[in-house]
Amino acid sequence: MDNAAIVTTDRLGRDQIARRRTFAIVSHPDAGKTTLTEKFLLYGGALQLAGSVTARKNLRATTSDWMELEKQRGISISSTVLQFDYRGYRINLLDTPGHKDFSEDTYRVLTAVDAAVMVIDAGKGIESQTRKLFEVCRRRGVPIFTFMNKLDRPTLDPLTLLDELESVLGIAAYPMNWPLGTGFGFKGVWDRRTRMAHLYERTERGAYRAPVLTTGLSDPVVRDRLNDDDVYRTTCEEIEMLEGAGAAFDPAAVLAGRTTPVYFGSAINNFGVQLLLDGFLEHSAAPGPRMTQTGLIAPTHRPFSAFVFKIQANMDPRHRDRIAFVRVVSGKFERDMTVTHVRTGKAVRLSNAAKLFGREREIIEEAWPGDVVGIVGNAHFAIGDTLTEDPAIVYDEIPRFAPECFAYLENPVASDFKRFAKGLAQLLQEGVIQSFELAEAGRRAPLLGAVGPLQFEIVKYRLESEYGVASEVRGAPWTVTRWLDPAASRENLLVPTGACLASDAQGNPVLLCVDDWQLRYFQDRNHHVQVSDQPFTP
Ligand code: G4P
Repeated sequence: MDNAAIVTTDRLGRDQIARRRTFAIVSHPDAGKTTLTEKFLLYGGALQLAGSVTARKNLRATTSDWMELEKQRGISISSTVLQFDYRGYRINLLDTPGHKDFSEDTYRVLTAVDAAVMVIDAGKGIESQTRKLFEVCRRRGVPIFTFMNKLDRPTLDPLTLLDELESVLGIAAYPMNWPLGTGFGFKGVWDRRTRMAHLYERTERGAYRAPVLTTGLSDPVVRDRLNDDDVYRTTCEEIEMLEGAGAAFDPAAVLAGRTTPVYFGSAINNFGVQLLLDGFLEHSAAPGPRMTQTGLIAPTHRPFSAFVFKIQANMDPRHRDRIAFVRVVSGKFERDMTVTHVRTGKAVRLSNAAKLFGREREIIEEAWPGDVVGIVGNAHFAIGDTLTEDPAIVYDEIPRFAPECFAYLENPVASDFKRFAKGLAQLLQEGVIQSFELAEAGRRAPLLGAVGPLQFEIVKYRLESEYGVASEVRGAPWTVTRWLDPAASRENLLVPTGACLASDAQGNPVLLCVDDWQLRYFQDRNHHVQVSDQPFTP
């Protein structure tokens, strides 16, 4: 396939690609992801008043019974895709559920983005989920922009926060701006690029763009606002040191995921949010090429191609159906177009394609690389599938994530077994959870693996509400999963007591351990077997 030969030559296509940015905001729960999303939407004019995302959250909870679980637990489970325009850019913001339990859904959304904004609560520094999400982004080489949030409250020292990025996450940190004051005395930021102080005024919960005064650091108004000569002096010294310390900003290192640009601010007060958004748009890249089994496909490749990264059934009882979320990689999507569903080789007409803003749906007429389209109602699509006008394109599989918790799912009412099996098969196809089979026979209840225990509850809840069958979740002890090289001999393996061998749904051999100690024991005694936290590709 000569990919280079078939490029979109029309200007329109190239302009559409160049103006797109597709990213996710990642954070530990409560760091301020929802608040920052609201403010971004405010700049995009997609919301009149910031705060409406939260309002939508509440509205959703009352209009949807599938969201009952969200309501009961006070959490957000389903990811949404938000699209808005700002300064000529078309922005696709993929929301990742932020709960203390991870789900694979969150991870998979990150396979469909070109960049991530990582929100850190500056009072707490890097938290456990920040680390996990960061690791997923890093593995994919996704550029990461950092927003140090809640500067209006007591925070860790800014230099300590930067050090932590380097020492804990192992990424070079480049401060793009610097806080002017902290806690209640936080008045704004010093923008290093323009060498200007941005002094903000508070509005009620930052509902509007904060009025901002931009001026030089030596302007007496800066000292006045900081209202403390010591703070002013220290800030000036810090800035001087920063400028003197000297490494120049390297945009290429950002795009390569080696450096994270760091912005300080307060999402709730709308301080520093526009600088973050503008900086992000300037330094992030338009949709890039994606790997197929035969090489890279550029977004300018003329035939349409896309991959399914998320499937969600029964999102809303008003539309009891199944939506496959598809990320466009190349070419132009047009409503009613016919494409090949590569896994089955079948031609499918994409007639029912929707854009989703939160829970609202709008029919999509066209979409370009970087956009996400929700295809409604096709029962055959599965995670990782390729849809394309050029059947030679087959996108690489979406990585699976090593489960960190396991449970048996029992069906307590034998007469419901058929429905139970059908429902579970559907949820497995959606990728809600992974299934495993123990090597030793005898156990009949399916063994399920998840990256967070919340996934079990979702399975149980959905089996009941969508398939009308009860189920019982019985915990299993394993917390560490490693795939074994299928080529290695499994004769005479020394498996520590408590650990066990199993296979995943594709029949790949897997080792399940209760803890890391068991894994080390296994590795020490079975040197000939390579292990991985991902299935080995054939
Ligand atoms: P999440 O999506 O990452 O879980 O966080 P979310 O935006 O919901 O924010 C978590 C809490 O932190 C919220 O308070 C929010 O108002 C607060 N917050 C966000 N940004 C800032 C900030 O810049 N400064 C301060 N001081 N607080 C911030 P809450 O009490 O849980 O909710 P609410 O009653 O304020 O809405």
